[in-house]
Amino acid sequence: MIGRLNHVAIAVPDLEAAVRQYKLVLGANVGEPQDEQEHGVTVVFIELQNTKIELLGPLGKDSPIITFLQNNPAGGIHHVCYEVDNILVACENLKKSGARVLGDGAPKIGAHGKPVLFLHPKDFNGCLIELEQA
Ligand code: CO
Repeated sequence: MIGRLNHVAIAVPDLEAAVRQYKLVLGANVGEPQDEQEHGVTVVFIELQNTKIELLGPLGKDSPIITFLQNNPAGGIHHVCYEVDNILVACENLKKSGARVLGDGAPKIGAHGKPVLFLHPKDFNGCLIELEQA
């Protein structure tokens, strides 16, 4: 069902410092920060030749990544995103298999403007999984 790896998301305590590091130390092609008010994060995409990295910084005091950063003060891998052809079919199949879809259980529009859903990390080896309709 899953296709390509779309991105790996890394939660960072200091987004500006992480952007500088990826630009200057790693020589990466780093995009502009985008505030995602409804998701409580500021996102910076880094284009690699075969995939993307999504740097996530907290936006606002109720940001959903604040707890993650408290548990991982240096930052860390927050989720991986796999592509699927049809998110509604994927969602139904996953629910039938007993996997928990986070939120109200329906796909939402994600940071790329495409439908996404998140799967409970406890159902997938401790890894938060995002599915995005390619
Ligand atoms: Co993501």
